[in-house]
Amino acid sequence: MKKVYIETYGCQMNVNDTEVVFSILAAHGYARTEEIAEADVIMANTCSIRDNAEQRIWGRIDYFNTFRKAKADLVVGILGCMAERLKDALLDTGKVNIVAGPDAYRSLPALLDAVCEGHPQMNVELSREETYGDISPVRIDKNGVSAFISIMRGCNNVCSYCVVPYTRGAERSRDYHTIVREACECVEKGYKEVTLLGQNVDSYLYEDVNFAKLLEMVAQVSPSLRVRFSTSHPKDISDEVIDTMAAWPNICHHIHLPVQSGNDRILEKMRRRYSREWYLGRVARIRQTMPDCGITTDAIVGFCSETEDEFRDTLSIFEEVGYDAAFMFNYSERPGTLASKKYPDDIPLDVKTRRLNELIELQNRLSLESNRRDLGKVFEVLVEGPSKKNDAELCGRTGSNKMCVWADSTHKAGDYVKVRVNDCTSATLLCELA
Ligand code: SAH
Ligand code: SF4
Ligand code: F3S
Repeated sequence: MKKVYIETYGCQMNVNDTEVVFSILAAHGYARTEEIAEADVIMANTCSIRDNAEQRIWGRIDYFNTFRKAKADLVVGILGCMAERLKDALLDTGKVNIVAGPDAYRSLPALLDAVCEGHPQMNVELSREETYGDISPVRIDKNGVSAFISIMRGCNNVCSYCVVPYTRGAERSRDYHTIVREACECVEKGYKEVTLLGQNVDSYLYEDVNFAKLLEMVAQVSPSLRVRFSTSHPKDISDEVIDTMAAWPNICHHIHLPVQSGNDRILEKMRRRYSREWYLGRVARIRQTMPDCGITTDAIVGFCSETEDEFRDTLSIFEEVGYDAAFMFNYSERPGTLASKKYPDDIPLDVKTRRLNELIELQNRLSLESNRRDLGKVFEVLVEGPSKKNDAELCGRTGSNKMCVWADSTHKAGDYVKVRVNDCTSATLLCELA
């Protein structure tokens, strides 16, 4: 049996895609290995979202090639968004044998067979239909508690800065029957939490089933299965989705609602198609219906022509919402995107970085304030396993997606446990068994 090693970069959808790839390869007689040195096939499932994500992969390609010394017929493959974006340029390096885009994974066994005959292979065809709906992913998570389920692929939004619509193609929703079946399989295998994945889950639509109905269907699979989802688009998140979250006790009260910027002119240039006021209205509706709902976000600083005052609007919307956590990035120009064609990337790196640090500092304070509001409260958390720092402690998340740690020698991964918050850092709630 040939052994395959895959490193995964980028978003949760890529993690789930790697699981799909392992499933496809397993059906063709390939075994998974976590030891790069014993692999016959080394692959990276890659991300193109920012330039530094791609730079990291170039380094990995060189590293993978060092294993050719010991194994002359080693196959090196690049999967995912960077494969889709760079295509032949990857093969031209002479360091890569296989290039396969996100919709081409069913062809991997055939590509691998052809490579064995000595020729590099590429399939970067995008599809309007492919959802891998019939494939049961081979889970690669370590804890056996929480699983990802992709509910759609691609994206039709074409935000001006974003490469995803080009690397992942047009949006398509997966047949809900296969989603519910996969959630049932997860329960049978002992999983306690599923996260429904899509670039814009609120535009899920298969026949007459929208995202709210899908959420309800998955919530009904088992009352002890926690349901999460990501990512919501502020322009699309509906009252129906918010009300469905509130109605089902096993749907976690956490919404990742990427704001990107707090300034209307920048939002317009980003083609996000909502205003600051609209965004704040959605947050108000969420809080009114679910006061305990965790709200997290993504933001980009230093987008084309962003002034200091416009950046201040991002700071102020962070302050106004009081996010529980955030991912924050310097704008990175991506070739081929609308922004790269229309607007110069004119904010100097040192200005971007200063703004980014200011935003991160603010968010650290907001995260700490958010955690302090939870002092003394009791939460039901799902145990994920031992805490990273201390084997005598367990860790697990609240429904609102906050990480808790507490001393515990009686419970194990997959248990639901009640904990009381005694103390906190900006990243973690420090708890005891309640
Ligand atoms: N579909 C999701 C986002 C997917 S990409 C959504 O619309 O919210 C994850 C995050 O990467 C984005 O929210 C954005 O903040 C960031 N990002 C995307 N393109 C970027 C770019 N060119 N430069 C910097 N950050 C970017
Ligand atoms: Fe990119 Fe916008 Fe689609 Fe998100 S919604 S993946 S940011 S184009
Ligand atoms: Fe990256 Fe592709 Fe995901 S660009 S963020 S791996 S969709």
